[in-house]
Amino acid sequence: MPRPAFMTDASSAPAIPVTIHRGDYRRPEWQIPDIALDFALGITMTRVTAALSVVRAAPAPAPLLLRGDGLAAAEVRVDGAVWNDWRMEGGDLVIDLGHRDAARIEVDTLIDPSANTQLSGLYASNDMLCTQCEAEGFRRITFHPDRPDVLSRYRVRMTGDKAAFPVLLSNGNRVATGEGAGGTHWALWEDPWPKPSYLFALVAGDLVVNRDRFTTMSGREVELGIWVREGDLERTHHAMAALKHSMRWDEEVYGREYDLDLFNIVAVSDFNMGAMENKGLNIFNTRYILADPDTATDADFDGVEGVVAHEYFHNWSGNRVTCRDWFQLSLKEGFTVYRDQSFSAAMGSPAVKRIEDVRLLRAAQFPEDAGPLAHPIRPDSYQEISNFYTATVYNKGAEVIRMMATLLGAERFRKGTDLYFDRHDGEAATCEDFVCAMEEGGDIDLGQFRRWYEQAGTPKLHLALAQEGRDWFMDVTQTIPATPGQETKAPMMIPLRLAAFAMDGSGALLPERLATLTDAVQRIPLGQFAARPALSVNRGFSAPVIIDLERASGELAWLAAHDDDPFARYEALQQLMLDTLVAAVSGKADDREAVIGAVGQTLEGAVNDPAFVAEAALLPNEAFIGDQMVTVDPDAIRRERLALQMAIGTALENEWRAILARSAPAATDPSPEAKGRRRLRGVALAYLAASGLEDVPGLAFAIFSQADGMTERQAALATLAHGDSDERTHALDIFYQRYRDNPLVLDKWFQVQAWSQRADTVATVAELAQHPDFTLTNPNRVRSLYGAFAGNQAAFHQADGAGYRLLADLVIALDPRNPQTAARMIPPLGRWRRFDEGRQLLMKAELERILAQPGLSRDVTEQASKSLM
Ligand code: PHE
Ligand code: ZN
Repeated sequence: MPRPAFMTDASSAPAIPVTIHRGDYRRPEWQIPDIALDFALGITMTRVTAALSVVRAAPAPAPLLLRGDGLAAAEVRVDGAVWNDWRMEGGDLVIDLGHRDAARIEVDTLIDPSANTQLSGLYASNDMLCTQCEAEGFRRITFHPDRPDVLSRYRVRMTGDKAAFPVLLSNGNRVATGEGAGGTHWALWEDPWPKPSYLFALVAGDLVVNRDRFTTMSGREVELGIWVREGDLERTHHAMAALKHSMRWDEEVYGREYDLDLFNIVAVSDFNMGAMENKGLNIFNTRYILADPDTATDADFDGVEGVVAHEYFHNWSGNRVTCRDWFQLSLKEGFTVYRDQSFSAAMGSPAVKRIEDVRLLRAAQFPEDAGPLAHPIRPDSYQEISNFYTATVYNKGAEVIRMMATLLGAERFRKGTDLYFDRHDGEAATCEDFVCAMEEGGDIDLGQFRRWYEQAGTPKLHLALAQEGRDWFMDVTQTIPATPGQETKAPMMIPLRLAAFAMDGSGALLPERLATLTDAVQRIPLGQFAARPALSVNRGFSAPVIIDLERASGELAWLAAHDDDPFARYEALQQLMLDTLVAAVSGKADDREAVIGAVGQTLEGAVNDPAFVAEAALLPNEAFIGDQMVTVDPDAIRRERLALQMAIGTALENEWRAILARSAPAATDPSPEAKGRRRLRGVALAYLAASGLEDVPGLAFAIFSQADGMTERQAALATLAHGDSDERTHALDIFYQRYRDNPLVLDKWFQVQAWSQRADTVATVAELAQHPDFTLTNPNRVRSLYGAFAGNQAAFHQADGAGYRLLADLVIALDPRNPQTAARMIPPLGRWRRFDEGRQLLMKAELERILAQPGLSRDVTEQASKSLM
């Protein structure tokens, strides 16, 4: 009987800031073709026996380095015999194998899943056991190199109590099952596809399954399963439909077929991220699986569809071709986000999807790129890789792939991706490999384009129209701001879609063309116009840049009404709103009437394309208005935005009322048309509420109570939550009583209150943090309160610093329990440079207070210290 090894502690390595550099990459010295894992499962004690067949991969006689985090080794066996030539270095196990070129290493570890509050490694959620291994969680289960360029075939045997864990799942195929002593049973799973350790997964619990099947393009019958807790089964149908659509779409658009007989998804309540693409066994946050019209909004439904697709698409972009090291993270994430965006566009309205994607990019990625945590999509260094699952790596990464697709065109892009998948199948690849495949497949030189992987910061294009006789030109000056560690930048290759229109009725136009910018200063001929043409630039948002072009409000209004590209129409109206708001905030003359006129004109399309109209009519959010200013004034922004909202609400009262007077589509109707109408009704209600009309709380309450689904119900509740009517309290109470037992819906109850534009929101959030239903153990709950609050600009930046203190208190309380989620709350405090001196001091003081905490995690240490720089 081998002596087990005991876990030393449940927390991660202490915070000694060690910086890892991309340039230091070395190939692994050992490979591990096969791994056999044996789990004796228990909530408070799980015993893991790992057998690794290791093979020397480098000529130098290096010892075998197996990473460990919170594990202890009591005994090591080599080829079946006890081996003494090993030592612990930090948490790692170093085994000296002398001159052996191959060996079978066996190590036992004991872990306590119930004590794993980080939700990384093997942990308990409700009464089930599950794993999360990306990026470096496998080393919390057993000793292993735990780097993505070590790929192995896994055989996994699980034994557990049959009553507690009737369902035992792992990657690949289930090859055998049986009964054991004392009410136990076991299952053996084998995954034929070599994979890195971060894709390992296991689930054990009392689960029910929604079963379906899918026939792949070559005729393989795949069994699909979505596993949830009893009672949740009815809410898995949308996810299942999304999965089947994704499988078909990847065949049709990328020629990629699924490669196992089984595809399982499990939903867990406690999860740090959205979902995880483990081979053949995706593990999801419940919020991206469970949806029905009574409990989920249309946006939630879209979230489910997009994330199910995202994880499924990883089977090729991530699993079959994986990453060589974590600096290459955008190789799988940027590409996969681009793939899921394209899929969702194809499933619904491409224009609306593009607007949503760009709005997210501007809300989450642009600020990151302009702040102390800015990094290239392929970072050069990190201290804690968990901190680099960012909007930059994901969303800007997707924009970079999209630009290549634009430069190549659909057909050549497909040639490039075919080449990439075929050439690197089964390998751990790099971003450079991807670009090379694009170059070869697309027959294009991407030498300069590679700077998108190297340089951080959002490029700014200053545009000016120039005239020589009847010939018009666009002069472009490209600048890229300095970012941490990158003082000077070289010009990027930028695909810019543009068109020009004559507004004088002459009909002259420059039809859409693609200009490829390469120089810091460049002149682009537009053609002949009798008068200054209206410029439509960055159509479809062809590049993730900021456009600086002075256009009169009349020109923007004309484009908002006439541009033939819906995204450009949306942009023109947004720019008009933005110009007006920025002028108002800076005390300059604004052109409110032009905005009201343009919104009114846009509303004429309300019947034909309600989804687009709803997006276009929304005012830019407060943070985005702040981004246009040298110093953000949160109070003035709130005041002026509300004033403009009120003016639009009042001037177009009849139009908004007409939208609400038409009967709402049935909540069970998921068509894009019905979704669009619901969205527009929400926007109409918000405008009416902002206009302060007396009957609006009553109207909102009626919509709230009569709603047959969550989209309308939540929209009405959110509107009421901004005000101080009796209806507000009443609706919040009703909502709470009705949904207190549904965690995902209760999250919304916290969220709408944290979003509120009321003056007492900081106090409300502080109170909600003490609510019996608030808990630090569930990341969704934490995000629903504090994530929403940090996005509420005027509240979070309350001048006395109470909002900052609240968030810092959370970080300090959460860090010992869940450092990954705690670290993700820090970036809002890092934006201090953008605010006035008083706020700057208060924000920095909170970051310093966080850093002064003893025993701070590596995650939080990195984010807080970089935020101060
Ligand atoms: N790889 C996951 C995705 O993008 C995200 C994730 C990262 C999940 C790390 C868990 C931990 O689909
Ligand atoms: Zn992903």
